[in-house]
Amino acid sequence: MNTTTLVLAHTGQLDPAVLAAAHDLLGRVFEGELTDHDWEHCLGGMHALIWDGFELIGHASLIQRRLLHEGRALRTGYVEGVGVRADVRRRGHGAALMTALEQVARDAYEVAALGASDEGADFYAARGWHRWQGPTSALTPAGVVRTAAEDDCIYVLPLSAPLDLHGELTCDWREGDTW
Ligand SMILES: CC(C)(COP(=O)(O)OP(=O)(O)OC[C@H]1O[C@@H](n2cnc3c(N)ncnc32)[C@H](O)[C@@H]1OP(=O)(O)O)[C@@H](O)C(=O)NCCC(=O)NCCS
Repeated sequence: MNTTTLVLAHTGQLDPAVLAAAHDLLGRVFEGELTDHDWEHCLGGMHALIWDGFELIGHASLIQRRLLHEGRALRTGYVEGVGVRADVRRRGHGAALMTALEQVARDAYEVAALGASDEGADFYAARGWHRWQGPTSALTPAGVVRTAAEDDCIYVLPLSAPLDLHGELTCDWREGDTW
């Protein structure tokens, strides 16, 4: 019997204990490589959470950012903190998390984007996300800085904004990993 439940809620609606459970899950999913900045990047938007009874087994966030592209500052739904507990992968939980957040993105943003891990790349591509083909950069306090190391791992889900996948894509500034 499938006892899992998917919850969609804004950071401000979640109990601190639930946020702590999500932080803990991502810490284990990313095997100790989740930084404080990585976790902070998951906050301030919508969270999709999958519970198996009282156990949190999946998490993903959709936060708002601005991506600069062809002279526009696109209102962007940016996906962060996608993780499913290792022992319950390949059962559709990751897909359920993304389906919920993609629906929010369709209703609220002009484009959705994310920076994929090696493992995540096939997962997103299988869902119809497109790898960005052009140069990427970040709008930092020191101006626009190329982020060449990220060029191959930025994925977008085209929504209402016209996109040239071979053009330049610049993300807004934040501490930690810019993408
Ligand atoms: C990526 C991740 C969230 C996928 O979660 P999941 O619950 O296993 O995903 P699903 O079962 O919904 O997979 C849906 C489809 O995505 C694709 N997919 C998922 N994981 C994949 C993988 N490791 N390699 C290739 N394709 C994959 C497959 O097409 C899969 O369908 P199938 O199982 O019928 O072949 C999970 O593997 C994870 O937590 N990984 C570690 C953290 C991580 O890398 N997160 C992404 C950060 S950008």
